[in-house]
Amino acid sequence: MTIHAVRGVHDILPGEGEKWRRVERIAREVFDSYGYEEIRLPIFERTDLFARSIGEATDIVQKEMYTFEDRGGDSVTLRPEATAGLLRAYIEHGLFVHPKPIKLYTMGPMFRYERPQAGRYRQFHQLDVEALGDEHPSLDAEVIAMLVEFFRRLDLAERLQVEINSLGDENPTCRPRYRTELVRYLRAHADRLCDECRERMERNPLRVLDCKKPECRRVLDGAPALGDFLCEDCAPHFGKTREYLEAMGIRYVVSPRLVRGLDYYVRTTFELTTTELGAQNAVAGGGRYDGLIKLLGGPPDPGIGFAVGVERVVQLLPDVAQGAWQDRRPGVFLIPLGDEALRRLLPVAGELRAKGIVVEVGHGERKLTRELERASKLEEAKRLGVLHAVILGPDELARGEAKVKDMKSGAQRAVPLSGLVDELLALGGRA
Ligand code: HAM
Repeated sequence: MTIHAVRGVHDILPGEGEKWRRVERIAREVFDSYGYEEIRLPIFERTDLFARSIGEATDIVQKEMYTFEDRGGDSVTLRPEATAGLLRAYIEHGLFVHPKPIKLYTMGPMFRYERPQAGRYRQFHQLDVEALGDEHPSLDAEVIAMLVEFFRRLDLAERLQVEINSLGDENPTCRPRYRTELVRYLRAHADRLCDECRERMERNPLRVLDCKKPECRRVLDGAPALGDFLCEDCAPHFGKTREYLEAMGIRYVVSPRLVRGLDYYVRTTFELTTTELGAQNAVAGGGRYDGLIKLLGGPPDPGIGFAVGVERVVQLLPDVAQGAWQDRRPGVFLIPLGDEALRRLLPVAGELRAKGIVVEVGHGERKLTRELERASKLEEAKRLGVLHAVILGPDELARGEAKVKDMKSGAQRAVPLSGLVDELLALGGRA
């Protein structure tokens, strides 16, 4: 019986791998240009870290974590997101002593036990970016601008919408006041809400605003709006963030119902959404989480960041154009006829590769005669689309030379073995 991959996980096969490389390369270029540095983190952490940061009442912590006891009896969890682990490292290694903001990014797999569907996996990948130690709203705007720039370089910005919101903070005159009002409203209309909303209403009322069911939407459209309850610190912070976005020419919409699925957010939150991916419409999401670093035992540093869902971005990218493969297509095909020739050509392959030329060596099955072998290898060279084939058989060896064949014109000439590498380098060898 063959063994299949676990439900909800997927392989990234070679053709698609090109898109992944492009996404990661552009991410690094853009993040580097804004002064972010890479940090690499473990993919599992102590379970407490996620429970404390993402929030006990969230879907992620309640039902989506891959949690297990290791052999030493410690409860560990495969990371469902990267922010918590990154902040753990920030605190643990005292990174906060450096000049602020500390700007970091990381990329890799995340794990959530969600119901798999198009665009939603149990192992998926994020590009995660965090800027720590600065609460100025211009940082909020810059972080969003950087995310938009990343999508612009991928030619996707025009197909995405930037949605922003402010969630206020835990100041009693801000979100808590709103929460009380919201719960009062929801309780008054509970009979028209779905079971899930009724249950969430008590546990995590803001998340109710996220329900997509039409019957709930009708109730929620009349709910009080958080924007009307922002305190005297949060309202201007949001106003300034918007001003700076406008100064940079970033188009956005304010989505009062953008509440996000993690509890650590305060003030600015945002998502980049598309209508092209069905129900899983967010390709990236993030926001501010002032207070979280302190909650995890660190200094009272504010923070803001986002994560991009790589699978969803890759899904939006067009299939890789033929040209994108070209610089990795072999430029030179070496055809040794016999063992002595192979021994002579192997170091040639090494030298050319060290100079950045993609080389394929035609080792392989012996045919009945050298002539047949030569013909079948040249066929292979043609199929690979290389620029030059190098043939080295017993006759050539005896003369101390190799034949270099231009695969386009078919012209063939003898080159002394001692100058073969230089000659091929001069020809450029790149397809
Ligand atoms: P999140 O909204 O949970 O935020 O995830 C960010 C992105 O990851 C989503 O917009 C989506 O594109 C992708 N994603 C999430 N779950 C899945 C899944 N099951 N399958 C495929 N893609 C998925 C966070 O994770 C926060 N840590 C972001 C952040 C960083 N906030 C501040 N800093």
